[in-house]
Amino acid sequence: MTLIWDDAFLLHLPVIDAQHRQLFTTLSELEEAMAAGISAAETEALLVRLQHYAARHFSIEEKYMAESHYPGLKRHQQAHQEFATTFARMLADCRAGNVAEPLAARIERQLSQWLKDHVTGLDQTFGVFYAHYLQELKDAGNSS
Ligand SMILES: [Fe+2]
Repeated sequence: MTLIWDDAFLLHLPVIDAQHRQLFTTLSELEEAMAAGISAAETEALLVRLQHYAARHFSIEEKYMAESHYPGLKRHQQAHQEFATTFARMLADCRAGNVAEPLAARIERQLSQWLKDHVTGLDQTFGVFYAHYLQELKDAGNSS
């Protein structure tokens, strides 16, 4: 699966949107590099970079949720945590040479597909909430 960015995925929260776009790009490039035949060590290095980037992104996204008192924060944090756990397990298997399922297929299924579902699903729900939150702040500012 090639992850193709679509502006329909925007949350209109520039910091988060830029990171989502970057995650799409990084994962697509990783899939392409693997298809072209990079080494296991290079693959692992790219995965580690991606893992760190995703962790940083999640914590920034969660900060926006906390600051806006988003009621879905806990559920969303849980989804991020599940992804982090899946990712860590994949890396551990990769290092242990446990390749019951080809790594490229696993990346596609557990990372790329998850990311697309998440950005077009739970993240969108938050995007709608955050837009209302900003509007309310603006309205409150205008009325005072
Ligand atoms: Fe998210």
